[in-house]
This record gives sequence, C-alpha cells and structure tokens, in this order.
Amino acid sequence: MTRSPINLDNVYENNLGTFKKISDTVLPVSYPEKFFSDQFSTDAKQKELYFSKLAYFGEVAVGGVRAKLIANKSKGVKAAGVYIEILVVLEPYRSKGIGSKLLEYVIDECKNHFQHQIFVHVATNNSEGLKWYETKGFVKQEELKDYYKDTRGSPDAVVLCLTM
Ligand SMILES: CC(C)(COP(=O)(O)OP(=O)(O)OC[C@H]1O[C@@H](n2cnc3c(N)ncnc32)[C@H](O)[C@@H]1OP(=O)(O)O)[C@@H](O)C(=O)NCCC(=O)NCCS
Repeated sequence: MTRSPINLDNVYENNLGTFKKISDTVLPVSYPEKFFSDQFSTDAKQKELYFSKLAYFGEVAVGGVRAKLIANKSKGVKAAGVYIEILVVLEPYRSKGIGSKLLEYVIDECKNHFQHQIFVHVATNNSEGLKWYETKGFVKQEELKDYYKDTRGSPDAVVLCLTM
C-alpha cells in the first residue's frame, strides 16, 4: 500500500510563522502576526475555539486552514456555525486534493461540534476560489462592499455557505 504524501498536522506556536508565510504568499491580504497568535491567547476574554491545520506534501508545509466556531448566541451578530478565515494552498501544489483535505477537516470539526453551516468570505474577483467553493456545495449568500482593508485584490467579498 502506498502512503499519500499529503498529511495534515497541528498548528503550534513554533510553526505559526510558516502558516503566516504561506497565507501571505497566497492571499492578497496580509493578516498581522496577532491574528495568527490569537489562537494561543491565554486571555479568557479572547478564548475562541479555532480549528487549524497545516498541510504537508512530504516534509514541506504547502497549505493551511484556520476556521473559527461561532457558537449559538442569541444576540450574536454573525450566524452560528464555523467560519473559514483562511484556506490556502501554494500554487505549485494545487489540484492534488490538498485543499479538499483541508476542507474535509473543517467539515469534520463542524459535525463534531454539532454545527450545520460553514461560512467563507471570498473576494468578488477571485473567480477560481468562488468556483472551487461552489463545486464543494457552497452557495452564494450576499455581497459585502469594502469588506477587505489593505488588500491587493478586490475589497468586496461574497459570503458563501455550506449547509449540512
Ligand atoms: C482554492 C484552493 C484552496 C484549492 O486548493 P487545491 O489544493 O487546488 O484544491 P483541490 O486539489 O482539492 O481541488 C481542486 C481541483 O483539483 C482537482 N483534484 C482534486 N484532487 C486531485 C488529485 N488528487 N489529483 C489531481 N487533481 C485533483 C479537482 O478537479 C478539484 O476540483 P473539485 O473540487 O471539483 O474536485 C487553492 O486554489 C487556493 O489556495 N487558492 C487561493 C486562495 C483562495 O482563493 N482561497 C479561497 C478564499 S479563502
């Protein structure tokens, strides 16, 4: 039996820099270091539940995902569910099933936490990203004007949702 060269591993404080580098390389928006390190915050007020993984092709980190659980709060602004904040694969490693594997991990966590919806924001000019999510069953919900700040891409975003 041949072993797949694609594996997911946890994000730790000591490989956060790798995750940020992959994200900066792929996305037109550069998230600050604090955005990544918030996942390890010990501040009780910032205690969110994140799902994150790095994807490896052999020994090389080539992609990653970070999603966040929005619990069912009666006065919450956002709908309850899991929000994909980052899901990226370096260009030379695309179309090998790595993005799908990262998404499957988020879907599993969504089910583990009894959630029924996964949300993601995609820039309106990212037609490949939009198509990819749509082939995975995500449905466009609304368009948000000027959602992204300091971006090299479109500032407008489409919200997509996968219902399970
Ligand atoms: C969107 C993105 C994450 C997809 O990653 P990916 O690793 O190329 O995704 P996959 O390989 O799983 O799927 C891409 C397509 O490759 C093909 N594919 C999947 N597995 C494959 C394999 N083992 N061998 C060959 N082709 C394969 C399929 O056609 C697949 O399409 P499908 O979803 O209809 O099955 C990646 O293109 C990316 O990082 N884009 C830039 C960032 C972005 O746009 N993110 C979205 C906003 S957050």
